[in-house]
Order: sequence, then structure tokens, then C-alpha cells
Amino acid sequence: MQVIKLLQIEDNRLESHQTKHWLTESGEFQVECVTLLAMGIARLSQGDIDIVLLDLNLPDSQGEKTFDKLHAQFPEIPIVVLTGEYEEAIGPSTVAKGAQDYLIKKRVTREALQHVLRYALARHSAQQEKIRSLQLSDAGRVIGFIGAKGGTGTTTTALNVAIALAQQGKSVILAEIRPSYGTLSLHLPQKPTHTIRTLMDRPKGHISTHELNAVLCKGPSGIWLLFGPKENEVDFMEPTSEQTISIINSLSKKVEYIILDLPPQPSPTLRAAISLCHVALIVTEREPASVHAGNVILKQLQIWGNQGNLTGGVVQTGVIVVNRTIFPSYSFALDEIQAQMESDVLELIPWGAAENLRALQEGVPVVLLQPDNDTSLSYISIAKQLMQTAGTPQSISANQNG
Ligand SMILES: Nc1ncnc2c1ncn2[C@@H]1O[C@H](COP(=O)(O)OP(=O)(O)O)[C@@H](O)[C@H]1O
Ligand SMILES: [Mg+2]
Repeated sequence: MQVIKLLQIEDNRLESHQTKHWLTESGEFQVECVTLLAMGIARLSQGDIDIVLLDLNLPDSQGEKTFDKLHAQFPEIPIVVLTGEYEEAIGPSTVAKGAQDYLIKKRVTREALQHVLRYALARHSAQQEKIRSLQLSDAGRVIGFIGAKGGTGTTTTALNVAIALAQQGKSVILAEIRPSYGTLSLHLPQKPTHTIRTLMDRPKGHISTHELNAVLCKGPSGIWLLFGPKENEVDFMEPTSEQTISIINSLSKKVEYIILDLPPQPSPTLRAAISLCHVALIVTEREPASVHAGNVILKQLQIWGNQGNLTGGVVQTGVIVVNRTIFPSYSFALDEIQAQMESDVLELIPWGAAENLRALQEGVPVVLLQPDNDTSLSYISIAKQLMQTAGTPQSISANQNG
């Protein structure tokens, strides 16, 4: 029997002694205790913990946000929450956000505790297994596009590459996974009828294929679109990690390529999305601020991609440079960017302001409007490169920089 390594985050030493006694008696569990959330986070960062038993009311964090903080940082570790006697609503609420289970303090018995922990672990490993097998079987390839900062041309690139893939005969979904309004709809003639926002209102993490199909829209060249929130959907709401994982997993069962247009700010949503990407591409301009910002995000993605990749492999990362620079003297050369970011540049997209402006005005992306144009050719080149790296996740050459 393998010993289960449990981390208990509990400031009441009497209670933590009691639990430790109950759990270690049979030899089934090995228990470590810390008294602060910060200490718990530090311990989990070292790895080698199977499950967490979390008291929500600690000296350095109280209530539901204790769970939120821990889960955001360690979405792959199962957490069982301990709530106070008079806060019964908090338990179910944390479960909706991804806790494996909850127990009400003072009512915990030895049997209940062991039972809940065993089932939490079993459920968690079944979920992980399901995600893994989905990713490894006939699931599509997930490609994330992340701007170094806003306005670098990420949405334009993601859309044109998605269409270029469709023109190569691939089935494609482009999903704008964002908490608030994004500009994808501006590139297309139709206004979205449905958006990702509808899915975020669901109380549970899991989103069914049926619910997802209801919000997908048809786009150019037969691609499917999942739009980010509309202009009038101003009540900002971040998709939870569970919603993000559920959406991407469902999308990956439908088509060969899932192109994600992702915002640059690090967040639990971004982390969850990255954990399901086969390839994550930073879109940067050549000017220093963009290259520096892009490098910071790239390093973050590599850390996340190396840690929590649910595909069983490492997320391959790469850089796309958009040559939008007005002041060539105030911008890095390509080899300087490669050196700074310690990463190959997949493609240099040429200056195409006029073409892209016309595309926006007509609601027809450049690859369709002017397929022979240099800008279009660079989008097609990215699509072809992505098709060449297609294979099983294991065959992707691992990026060792992270
Ligand atoms: N290759 C390019 N050359 C010049 N301008 C571009 C290019 N690609 C995109 N743009 C323009 O840059 C602006 C921002 O593009 P967008 O794709 O919305 O960026 P982001 O998604 O990174 O915020 C748009 O006006 C777009 O037409
Ligand atoms: Mg954008």
C-alpha cells in the first residue's frame, strides 16, 4: 500500500494533533502540518504532496478566499476544505469552485475523515486520468496565442492562422477565452449571437457538450468560433479553472485544431488554458517594452507548462514577431529577440497595417481578402509549421528552457 502524503493547513494545534493521530494510526497516511496559508503554499511548491486538508480560517487568510488562493496556485492538487460550524454555505460553494469535498469542523469523526479523503483522492485521480486519456487519444491539438501585451496583433494572427488551417483542410475552432470584451467580433461581418459569457453563469465547473454547442458560431472557411464576452456584457467574470478546462476539453473533442486567443495577464484562467495547450505562442512586437513583457510571460508559461501539463508532456513554446514598428531604430533585431527570449522565432509577420485596416473595414480577414499578400503568406506559414509539429503530445520536442 502506498502511503498518502497529506498536508494539513490548520492553525489550531489541538485539532491538527487529533487529525494527525486519526490518520497516521493505520499507516495509510503520512501527515505534515503547517499553521499559515503562506507556509502551506511554500510547502506545496516543493512538491510531493498528494492531498491538502485546508482550514479556511487561518491567521493569514480567512473564509472562502483561503481556498481560492490555494486552488489558483495549485489547481492540480486535490483539496478537502474544513469549514466552521455556522458557515454551511461555504463548503458547497468551494466544491463548486473545485474543492474535492468539505467537512464541517466539530462534526468530523475518524471514519468520516478517512472516507472523505480516500474518495477525494480516488475522484481526483479518475478526473486526471480522464483528462489525460482525452488528450492522448483522438483529441485535437490546442494552440494558445498570447499577446506580449494588448495591441500586438494577437487576435489578428490567431484568426488568420485559424482560417489558414481550415484552408489546408483542417477542422478548426477559434476560441476567445477572456473575462471581458475582446475584439474578435470586429474582424468579422456577423455580430456574435452567443458568447463564452453564457457558460460562465453556470454554477458548476463542468460544461456539457450540449451547452457548448449552443454557443458556438459559424465563421469564415468553415471554422467555428467561440466569442469572448460582447460589448454589452459588461459584468466582468473570469472563467474558473474548471470552466476553462471543461470548455477546452470539450472543444478538443470536436475538431483537429483548437486555436485559443488568450489575454496576456497571468490568471488562473490562463494557467488552466496553458495546462491544456500543446503549443503556446507569444505574439510580440519588436520594440523593447513588448519584447520584455513577452519574455516575462514566456518564462511564466514555461514554468506552468513544465509543472502542470495535463497532457502528460511539456507545453512547447514559441515566439511570433509582428513587425509593427514605426521606429526601426527603437526596436530589436530578430536575433536579439531570439537571444533575449531564449526561444526561436517561428515567424516574422511583415508590416501590414493597410491590409489589416482594409480587412477590418470589410469584415474579411487578410488571408481571405488578399491570399497572396506577404502578411497572408506569413499566417499560412505559421499554419503549416503547426501542422508539421502535429503528432502525439509525446513527440513534441520538449522545451527545456523553463
Ligand atoms: N502585421 C500587422 N501590421 C500592422 N498592423 C497590424 C498587423 N497585425 C495587426 N495589426 C493591427 O494592430 C491592431 C491590433 O491588432 P489585434 O489583433 O487586435 O491585437 P491584440 O489582439 O494583440 O490586441 C489592429 O488595428 C490590427 O489591424
Ligand atoms: Mg486581442
